[in-house]
Amino acid sequence: MDMVRLDPPAELTMPIGEAMFSQRAIRRLDPDRPVTDAQLEIMLNAASKAPNGGNTQPARYLVIRDREDIQKFGKLYHEAWWAKRRDAYGWNSRADMPEDSPYRHAALLADEMVNAPAVILVYSQAHGAAASSTFPGVQNLLLAARALGVGSVLTTLHAEVMERVNAMFGVPDDMVFHCCLPLGYPRGNFGPTSRLPTSETTSWGRWGTPPPWK
Ligand SMILES: Cc1cc2nc3c(=O)[nH]c(=O)nc-3n(C[C@H](O)[C@H](O)[C@H](O)COP(=O)(O)O)c2cc1C
Repeated sequence: MDMVRLDPPAELTMPIGEAMFSQRAIRRLDPDRPVTDAQLEIMLNAASKAPNGGNTQPARYLVIRDREDIQKFGKLYHEAWWAKRRDAYGWNSRADMPEDSPYRHAALLADEMVNAPAVILVYSQAHGAAASSTFPGVQNLLLAARALGVGSVLTTLHAEVMERVNAMFGVPDDMVFHCCLPLGYPRGNFGPTSRLPTSETTSWGRWGTPPPWK
């Protein structure tokens, strides 16, 4: 296959710091404001530029745009989301969830997937299926989306629905699924996000020695 170099897209003008520090999980997407093919191309081009082992580029992307397909996929996503909570916690519905469960936000997405203007499913070729060669591209894609004002959230599926999802979109057997990215303009706002301080997550020179900042 021919390789391409590509110039940076003129649309990606947001400072990288602003994009990184305000990109966050957006689970409520505006169903009435479309994401354009040109924007998706920019995001996928950004993903293609990410580091990957040996430049073997195993990542493959399936873009779902058709409303009916997204509706059908959204139903499978809903089933997958609850199958995961059932396996992990024995929950079958919101009534089973503790009031303060952080999964209450994520449960929103189970209902909202059907409204996403676009969904990208991320796979890789089985012979180079390392997730570590796929997720740098996913992060580039999420940052490019953020710079364009488009929201997303990295999410996964469940074995219970995988065969049906792959059959629905004609995904070949040698593709390994990694994650799912709904995309759309946010109903809500980007960042800021809360994270552990790096002074607590980082060791300096020897394990357990703090870095020179507080
Ligand atoms: C591997 C992975 C799996 C995730 N799975 C889900 C998911 O199934 N549903 C969901 O709503 N968010 C999911 N997320 C998004 C995380 O919940 C989100 O990145 C995290 O809570 C930080 O959110 P924030 O950036 O808005 O602060 C996942 C993120 C990663 C990296």
